[in-house]
Amino acid sequence: MRDATTQVLSKLISGQACSGEAIARQLGISRAAVWKHVTTLRTLGYEIDSRTGTGYTLTHIPDHPHAVLTHQYYVPVELGKTIIYLPECGSTNAELRVRAEAGAPAGLVITTDEQHAGRGRRGRTWTSARGAALLFSVLLRPQMPPGELAGLTLLAGVAVAEALRELGVAATLKWPNDVHIAGKKVCGILAELSGELDYTSYVILGIGVNVWDHPQGGEYLSTSLAAEGVRRSRAKVLATILAALETNIDLFRAGYQATCLAKWREFSATLGRQVTVHGVTESYTGLARDVTAEGALVVLLEDGQEKVFTAGDVTIRDK
Ligand code: BTN
Repeated sequence: MRDATTQVLSKLISGQACSGEAIARQLGISRAAVWKHVTTLRTLGYEIDSRTGTGYTLTHIPDHPHAVLTHQYYVPVELGKTIIYLPECGSTNAELRVRAEAGAPAGLVITTDEQHAGRGRRGRTWTSARGAALLFSVLLRPQMPPGELAGLTLLAGVAVAEALRELGVAATLKWPNDVHIAGKKVCGILAELSGELDYTSYVILGIGVNVWDHPQGGEYLSTSLAAEGVRRSRAKVLATILAALETNIDLFRAGYQATCLAKWREFSATLGRQVTVHGVTESYTGLARDVTAEGALVVLLEDGQEKVFTAGDVTIRDK
């Protein structure tokens, strides 16, 4: 949505009637321009009543993960101060990368209703029906070398799990940062990095949460918030996650990595379970014992040896 349309929406968001003249005056645009933006909003699914004498009244808000709607629920400090909403795109991670390369500031968020080339971890694709999932990416510019960033991807899972718990579901974490409800995946996180060995230029956290619906018949069991009884708008889910991310990133920056790690352990559905870790060429089975401060998974293998995994996919074997 273009900026001026967003500004018109912000004038209508309270649901109170607002005259075209007043909006035009406040925004320093013409009444004809206000009408044009109202028309754009209607094409996006906003229902706006217009009456001579009273003006425009917003009567229905569609489920958009849009800035004006999201900012109703939290006050951003850094993350999500600017939220760019695209009705559709290839991938929000790819869109954000273009802006990051052009110097966009940390905290920029891109959301969309539909991705045509959604990316998952380890080169997989990520699919979701139009409007069914909350799809967004956050730009971070951490002042630390890439080698120290693994904890940040665990932290992203912690923040999402915390946010979903706040919304009323018992979200758990499967290493490294899949978010599950009752053993079914509700959210995936793809962290992509640009930098050199000793310097991080930026990190893009791409997060996909199944809100209204979830893909069926994939390689693992999936669920959605709605299927688990939580029917909240994507703007509300986005706001809750961004607020939780902001809090946890602050903790992480202030040196409380151990606190984030303790929360990961608390939310974990992996530790203490029999798991198979699928690496690039080999798979290993054993008991998931712990995560290290660097975010690696420690597994006690069946032959009694302990192995530390820094990457891989985990299948949980027991119930
Ligand atoms: C996974 O579990 O494999 C990670 C999935 C990450 C999906 C999100 S959706 C928003 C962002 N844009 C992408 O292309 N991918 C991430």
